[in-house]
Amino acid sequence: MSKDVKTIGVLTSGGDAPGMNAAIRAVVRTGISNGLKVKGIRRGYAGLLEEDIIDMTTLTVSDIIQTGGTILYTARCLEFKKKEYQQKGADICRKHGIDGVVVIGGDGSFNGASRLAENGINTIGVPGTIDLDIACTEYTIGFDTAINTAMEAIDKLRDTSESHERCSIVEVMGRTAGHIALWTGIASGAEYILTTEQYHGDIQRIINKIQDRRRIGKKNHIIVNAEGIGNSAEMAKLIEIATGVETRATVLGHIQRGGNPTCRDRVFASAMGAKAVELLCEGKSNRVVGYRDGEFVDYDIQEALAMEKGLDPYLFHITKKLTTR
Ligand code: ADP
Ligand code: F6P
Repeated sequence: MSKDVKTIGVLTSGGDAPGMNAAIRAVVRTGISNGLKVKGIRRGYAGLLEEDIIDMTTLTVSDIIQTGGTILYTARCLEFKKKEYQQKGADICRKHGIDGVVVIGGDGSFNGASRLAENGINTIGVPGTIDLDIACTEYTIGFDTAINTAMEAIDKLRDTSESHERCSIVEVMGRTAGHIALWTGIASGAEYILTTEQYHGDIQRIINKIQDRRRIGKKNHIIVNAEGIGNSAEMAKLIEIATGVETRATVLGHIQRGGNPTCRDRVFASAMGAKAVELLCEGKSNRVVGYRDGEFVDYDIQEALAMEKGLDPYLFHITKKLTTR
């Protein structure tokens, strides 16, 4: 049941993503402009349960739009999956006068937001994850920065792979989703893009392709491998043995989660943070902000969580032609 909000809280939860600070800033400044008090809940649901709550002012969020990470810190909190802790979290919100919460995170965090809503706290989710794996939205905060970081790293690997006439397997993040692999693979002109959704373990095809490319004089080979497939070191060994081409595996890892957000991440995070506060001011709850067909929209959290998302079919389709020898 929705009600008027006077004081809102904002938290970041799950894996951090560049642009989360821009979203926090937008929540705080839109909230204050709309006459609300704003509190920062540090370290996600873990901080909520420990009452790690601070007052936020327009000054608290000065000079953060350009920074990576999250000034509110983030955490994973398994306890919050239990009913008694969800109720405790809602009681703590009430104790601090917080009647609305903006949760910046991924699907897991939205589940937590929905549980808080069930316990009487108005909640709005804002999609923050580098993985782009939230079905209700075409955009998630941090994806753009992460793919640019990964793309630049792959460009660098290309240089050294060419000098040494090697094959490089680059493993990018994405949890079980292949969006980062698909985008960075296309952008870096990878010879092979292995996504969780489309790769079924056919390493022989990769080996054949490397051999074909060697025959026509190509000196280096880049394979972008999604984290959900993993096994990059093992794959490198198999390829080296089968082709005789020296092969190295590089796992890019958490470097993809850091760094100054791109312009796109800053602007989308600002719009999504502001939209979340507007929804709370309209008395809405249990909603998640999304971006679809050129518009900022919102969905019921449960409906959003039930949606499914695959790889962009057209992007996948073109990779077959673009990665041809
Ligand atoms: P993300 O939000 O990026 O998907 P996680 O899946 O790790 O990241 O979830 C972040 C946090 O959200 C968890 O540590 C937990 O505190 C909370 N959470 C996840 N799933 C649930 C759930 N089913 N019920 C309540 N809280 C949840
Ligand atoms: O969800 C973001 C993400 O970076 C995934 O791409 C990755 O699988 C996971 O988080 C890594 O989590 P952690 O920081 O706990 O190692």
